[in-house]
Formats: sequence, structure tokens, C-alpha cells
Amino acid sequence: MNYKNKNIFKRKNIIKVAIDSPAAAGAGTQAKLISKHYNLLQLDTGRVYRYVANIKINEPNKFKYSYLKKKINKLRIKDLENKKLLSDEVATAASVVAKDRKIRELVHIFQLKCAYNPPKSYAGSCLDGRDICSVIVPDADIKLFITANLKTRAIRRYKELKTKKNYISFSDVLESIKKRDKSDINRKISPLKKTKDSILLNTTNLSIRRCFLKIKKIIDRKLTI
Ligand code: C5P
Repeated sequence: MNYKNKNIFKRKNIIKVAIDSPAAAGAGTQAKLISKHYNLLQLDTGRVYRYVANIKINEPNKFKYSYLKKKINKLRIKDLENKKLLSDEVATAASVVAKDRKIRELVHIFQLKCAYNPPKSYAGSCLDGRDICSVIVPDADIKLFITANLKTRAIRRYKELKTKKNYISFSDVLESIKKRDKSDINRKISPLKKTKDSILLNTTNLSIRRCFLKIKKIIDRKLTI
């Protein structure tokens, strides 16, 4: 997909951080810390696919392109904070709707606006997802690929989901992440992949704090050039 011709206003002299990662690798946590430290608008782009998936689950009769277009045009980051979007069911449905080219295009316009034209009160933007370095913000100042091994990611997601749901088994969580990895990596449109120019961070044996300090070093070095 090529966004060169999309008419998106681009603010000059802003910091753009782009992060890609497989599910539950810790990218969201780092994106929050980075955004807070550098005063950046943060967008977890997976939430937008989850938002669309939630419509598919709860309003199946309305799940049509024209309705989705209206909803995405009116979408605000606040709408993405809905706790319902965090469930495993919604995550799995998100990875299905994320394969649809027309849905991706709709969602991308919202993401581009956040990345290139964040409100003036922010020094820039920080987006995390699957295709941020490759498709959405290819000219980002800092590009990161955050990963961790499958078991570690499944344990993290299991602990997170367990605080919200009474019963969920570890093997279900593991299977669900495996399935999503497979779908996100192998799909034809905007698959998850590490771009050559992004920095790899493996968080398997890294605490949240140590990972953030590594990223801070990378960003500070870049900003002083
Ligand atoms: O990151 P999160 O787990 O919330 O993403 C849910 C799903 O949305 C992913 O499994 C993926 O299929 C899709 N997604 C995507 N592109 C992005 C972000 C998420 O296709 N930039």
C-alpha cells in the first residue's frame, strides 16, 4: 500500500517513534513510557482493529463499510479505552478483520493523522502495532521492533487476562497468541515483519525498566544528532 498521495497534513519538526511487535511482547508498555517521557501522543494501533472487531461482534447487522467509515471518521483516542476491547475474543476477531484491505485503509487514515498531525500540545507521536515501521510511518525518527519468546509472551498475557476474567486457561492463551502470530506474519497485506532499519529489542529477559532505559538511550542519542 502506498500512502504518498494521501492528503494528510504533516506537522514539521515533530518526533515520530514507530514500534512493531508480535502480541504481548511489551511494546504497549514501552510505548506508554516513551510517550510520557517525551510528551508524545500515544496510539496503540491494535486498539483500532479491536474497535472494528468489537463492532463485528456486538453489532453484526451494522458491520458494513459505510457504517465503519462513519464510526472511524468520528473516532477519538478516548473511545479506544473501552475495557471490552481487551478481551481475547476481541483480539482474535481483530486479527481477522485486520486482513481486510478496505478496513486497513480506513483505519490507516486515522493512524496517519495521529502520527503526523498530533495536537500542538505534543512534541510528536509514538505508534505501536504490526505495520508501523513498514507502512504507516516509514520515515519515523526512531524505529523499534520489540519481541520476546512465545512462552514469555503467553505468560504475560495470561497474567493480564486473569486479573480481568475468572477463568481462563494458560494453554488457551498460548494457542490464541500462536494463532495470531501465524495470521499476522503470514497475511498478504501489511504482514508483521522487522524492517531493516528498525532496532531489535528482545524483552524475554529484560525488565520493563531496563528495556525502557535501553530505548531512552537510543532516542536520546538520535535526538542529539
Ligand atoms: O496489538 P493488538 O494485540 O491489540 O492487535 C490486535 C490485532 O490487530 C493483531 O493481532 C493484528 O492482527 C492487528 N493489528 C494489525 N496492525 C497493526 C496493529 C494491530 O494488523 N498495526
